[in-house]
Amino acid sequence: ALVTTKEMFKKAYEGKYSIGAFNINDMEIIQGVVNACKSRNSAVILQVSTGALKYAGPAYLMNMVDAAIKETGIDIAVHLDHGPDLETVKQVIEAGFTSVMFDGSHYDFEENVRLTKEIVDYAHARGVVVEAELGVLAGVEDDVHSEKHVYTQPDEAVDFVQRTGCDSLAIAIGTSHGAFKFAGTPELKFDILEEIGNRLPGYPIVLHGASAVSQEHVATCNEFGGAIKGAQGVPKEMLRRASEMAVCKVNMDTDIRLAMTAALRKFLAENPSEFDPRKYMGAARKEIQKLVEEKIDDVLGSANSM
Ligand code: G3H
Ligand code: 13P
Ligand code: ZN
Repeated sequence: ALVTTKEMFKKAYEGKYSIGAFNINDMEIIQGVVNACKSRNSAVILQVSTGALKYAGPAYLMNMVDAAIKETGIDIAVHLDHGPDLETVKQVIEAGFTSVMFDGSHYDFEENVRLTKEIVDYAHARGVVVEAELGVLAGVEDDVHSEKHVYTQPDEAVDFVQRTGCDSLAIAIGTSHGAFKFAGTPELKFDILEEIGNRLPGYPIVLHGASAVSQEHVATCNEFGGAIKGAQGVPKEMLRRASEMAVCKVNMDTDIRLAMTAALRKFLAENPSEFDPRKYMGAARKEIQKLVEEKIDDVLGSANSM
C-alpha cells in the first residue's frame, strides 16, 4: 500500500533495523528496487530529488510508483529528497507523495527551525510526514578539509525536534553524498548518534550519504571503459551498527547509479551488436535488484518488515 513512514519507522526502531530509501529516476530503477523488496517482503521508501522531479516529472514518477504498489503489494512511502522550499513541497504533496524532506541545513539554526516548522504545519495538515536536517554533510571537495564538517550537536537536535515537530531528523556524523566519501580511513561519529538516541528515545534518525560504494561495481565500470578513481563508501558494518541504533532510514543513490552503470557498460561491451534497450536496461534492472536484495540482507535488516 501507499503509506507514510510513521509505522515503518516505529517498527524499525523497535526491531533495531532500518528502512532503505532509494532514489528513483526511471522505471528500471523503480522495478529493480521493488522487485527486491517484494522478494524479501520488505517495506521501502522511494525518494525523489528535485533533479529527478525535473528529469521525469512528478506525474510519471507517482504513476509508476502506483503501478509498483499494485504489482507487488508491498508498503511504499514516496518521499521528496532534499526539498528546497515550500513551493516544491506543495507540488509533490499535490502529486500524492506521502513524505517530504525539508533540507534547511544550510540556514542558520533559527532560520532552519522557522522554515521547517512552516513545512511541518503545511504537511501535517495534509497527512504527510516531514524529515528535516540539522548539521552539514561534507561536500566532495570538503573531504580534504575535514574542518568543514559540521557535526550535528545533540543539544541542538533535541531543541530542533521539539520546536519544529518534524517526524524524523537527518544528522551529520561524517557521511557525505556521492562516491568519494573518505580520503583515508572511514570514520563515523557513533558517539554523537548514541547521544542523540539517548536524548530522543524512540525518535527516528536518518542517515544520508549512506552508499557503501561496491568496489566490485567500480572495478566493472573501469574494466569496461569507465574512469572512476578513488571511490570509497561507508563500510557495511558501520551501516549495520547505525541501523541497530536510532537510524531508521538509510539513504542510497550512488550505489544504484554504480550498479546500473556497471551492468550497462559490461553488457554493451560484451554484446557489441546488441542495440535493444530492453536487453541492456534489463541487465541494469537485474543488477539493481541484486544490489537491493543484498542491502536488505546485509545492511538494513528489513526483511519481513511488513
Ligand atoms: O542527495 C542527493 C541524491 O543523490 C540526489 O542526487 O540531486 O543528482 O538527483 P541528484
Ligand atoms: P549516497 O550518495 O551515499 O547514495 O547518498 C544519497 C542520499 O543521501 C540521498 O539523499
Ligand atoms: Zn541526501
